[in-house]
Amino acid sequence: MIGEKLQIGLAGLGTVGSGVYEALLRNRSLLEARAQISYEIRRVAVRDKRKKREVSIEEGELTEDWHDLVEDDSIDIIIELIGGREEALELIRAALSNGKPVVTGNKALLAEYGAELFRLSQSKGVPLYFEASCGGGIPIVQSLQNSLICNKVDSIVGIINGTSNYILTSMEKGNLLFAEALRRAGEKGYAEADPTLDINGWDAAHKGLILAMLAYGTPLSLDAIAVNGIEDVQPADFEFAHRLGYTIKLLVVIKRHKGEGTLELRVQPSFVPLDHIMAKVDGVFNAIAVRGDIVGETIFYGRGAGKNPTSSAVLGDVVLAMRECRLPDYHTGFHPYAEETAVLPVRETVTPYYVRFRVRDQHGVIASIAAIFAKYDIGISATSSQDGEGMQDREPWNHLVFMLHACKLGQLESALSEIEVLPCVVSEPVVFRIEAFRET
Ligand code: NDP
Ligand code: HSE
Repeated sequence: MIGEKLQIGLAGLGTVGSGVYEALLRNRSLLEARAQISYEIRRVAVRDKRKKREVSIEEGELTEDWHDLVEDDSIDIIIELIGGREEALELIRAALSNGKPVVTGNKALLAEYGAELFRLSQSKGVPLYFEASCGGGIPIVQSLQNSLICNKVDSIVGIINGTSNYILTSMEKGNLLFAEALRRAGEKGYAEADPTLDINGWDAAHKGLILAMLAYGTPLSLDAIAVNGIEDVQPADFEFAHRLGYTIKLLVVIKRHKGEGTLELRVQPSFVPLDHIMAKVDGVFNAIAVRGDIVGETIFYGRGAGKNPTSSAVLGDVVLAMRECRLPDYHTGFHPYAEETAVLPVRETVTPYYVRFRVRDQHGVIASIAAIFAKYDIGISATSSQDGEGMQDREPWNHLVFMLHACKLGQLESALSEIEVLPCVVSEPVVFRIEAFRET
């Protein structure tokens, strides 16, 4: 039943916004037939109207002031794709306050201000949709909110940043240097406007916080999650990883510790066994494994960034918003429903570890480092070494790797603080977790 046309206001016409604009036009008849609703793109907000665009758009359709969208009574739905925090926050607040449902992909904003925005959404009875905020084209938000709703979620483990996975795969399989791989990720529209967040793990952390919030119903603050990025990953780490039967992935790990009732939340480069399904997730692809008490293990896989995959997620939400516009007093927006959950301090988290040192080429180095690990009751499962390139203080040096049995991060940090000051150790160690993918 196609009634009056719903009017859409689109804020942002960059990588994702232009994909959404094109797809809304290209697949209009399909969308209208499936959703039984007709629509029009009423107005598009950009920063600079004179900028050359890939999409063909009339100048009159554009505005440089997003207030023109949220204050326009004829606009029914707002799509926020401008990114950033302050203005996007203001825009979403204003739209919800004016009774306009909002679709956004802004994970940085939701991770920081989600609790406030969901409260506003609830108090106004106006939904806020955010499928595109996690996993690009993978329908993980709707899955957690709807399809898996009956499950207590035991864990979510995933590769949820396309840029960093693209960089790691390019270093591992394309022999590219980090900087060149990052440049290409930017060109392909995977990286954020400021790619720092992709590299330092915070984009994955923002998404992890959103997934945890969905899975456990509780708002979580940014300091709930321990974050390490991929900045320190070197070609030598891939060589060691392969030699030892692993690859390296930036993983988000969210676990419910049933006994203590705590949540473990962390993002870090991790050794993943080569025969594990996560080891085969390459390039811009993401994968998110959700284990629920009723469903068991599930895994969601797809392109985690880029114009079209992300547009697909945005458009799914737009259709939902359009349908719900036709159903007064009903909406499926997210409402936190649980009290804040205690978070396991990161020093208490337990995994096996890979630790790489740069050491002087001398006798007794392994023994002196191993003695300190033993003092802290940390078992060694393997060691490996490789000649370093060049000289350190006019002396040859080596990479020396220790694979460590599971221990608390706190134990490891205490041991490393003693090892780092040994005269044979010439720089800070590189530490990655080894993910065992076992039940807690
Ligand atoms: P871009 O930087 O490519 O695009 C941003 C757009 O917003 C541009 O069109 C810009 O205008 C416009 N804009 C910026 N500030 C304002 C403002 N104050 N008023 C009006 N318009 C403004 O970003 P992306 O498309 O890559 O990302 C958009 C959002 O989607 C971000 O929150 C991002 O995190 C998220 N996202 C991105 C994904 C991706 O793969 N790229 C995937 C999932 C989510 P102008 O064109 O004139 O400069
Ligand atoms: N920069 C993000 C990424 C975009 O690379 O995953 C998708 O959220």
